[in-house]
Amino acid sequence: MHNQDSLIQIYAPIATEIDRVREVVCEIWHDALTLVSTTDANSNKQQAKGKLLRPALCLLGAGALGKKDISQYARLAAAYELMHIASLTHDDVVDHASLRRGQNSLNTLWDNHAAILGGDYLVARALELLTEYDSRPLIVSVLQSMQRMAEGELRYFGQDFIHAGEADCIALADSKTASLFAASCTAPASLFAPDQVPVLHEFGIGLGIAFQLLDDLLDITQSEDVLGKPACGDVTEGKHTLPLHLLRIAMTPDERERLAALTGNTLSVIEQQWVWETVQRLGVDKMTVARATQYIDQALAAIAPLPDSSYKKSMITLAQFVLVRQA
Ligand code: IPE
Ligand code: IPE
Ligand code: MG
Ligand code: MG
Repeated sequence: MHNQDSLIQIYAPIATEIDRVREVVCEIWHDALTLVSTTDANSNKQQAKGKLLRPALCLLGAGALGKKDISQYARLAAAYELMHIASLTHDDVVDHASLRRGQNSLNTLWDNHAAILGGDYLVARALELLTEYDSRPLIVSVLQSMQRMAEGELRYFGQDFIHAGEADCIALADSKTASLFAASCTAPASLFAPDQVPVLHEFGIGLGIAFQLLDDLLDITQSEDVLGKPACGDVTEGKHTLPLHLLRIAMTPDERERLAALTGNTLSVIEQQWVWETVQRLGVDKMTVARATQYIDQALAAIAPLPDSSYKKSMITLAQFVLVRQA
């Protein structure tokens, strides 16, 4: 099934609130774009519209914990999407990526300097939304995830990845991606059911790690058109993702040299095909899916004790969706 159709079904119990999230995010994205006088604020609307996984997790978590009126958490959920968009804005500067959600990334539309400031602006607007909930534990949790996201990237900054292993790839996925997943999942619990925070935290971490590992595989297997972001960008950037790590280990020295020579270049279609075919031939795709499945299983085991509800059901289907998504 197409991503969008799956998500419409998964988001059914929170459909009204997700619409509200979309509105809040689009308004704030519009505010950011109009700050730069030369930008046509209508030109990059698409960039405010991602899969909305993090706000969905926040709202589903509230419902799964038994909250009857979850509409009060729409702005809370929107804050996590804004944090995510801010991290993508900064990430595209770091990764020299020109495309995001099928449109010019902010570093392309403006420049690196303005894109960093744009990301900072979105973080500030997200924190402003969070203060509406008047909760110190909530602010602490989001600050911890911001800290972990930055730490994850900074630890590997400037390092030669030659000695990095599988555990490093997982640790990076944990800090740069799973930390925000976990913060969105635990946000409602930290407001009204603090004893449930560990359960939702474990769900978010497992889901987030699996999500990043598979995103790293999709980077190799999908086209730019499908992804809405550069294909094989991790090869170009010489990143040490789990699939590229497994690939480098399984390759012959000649193949490893050929792969290394692709760093710094945008790959041609032939080169992309070679990487993808080698990934398949050496079973790297299956190994990556198997590793991700372990984390999804951990996530599902964590929420098993929650009472049955349409929200919990959607959390389970969302975890399964992560394993089969196409973009
Ligand atoms: C992309 O996240 C960045 C990663 C953590 C891999 P998403 O795939 O959730 O991006 P959008 O929000 O749908 O654009
Ligand atoms: C995830 O890493 C980015 C963040 C968590 C900010 P990637 O660099 O793999 O994300 P994409 O592929 O650019 O979306
Ligand atoms: Mg990137
Ligand atoms: Mg990626």
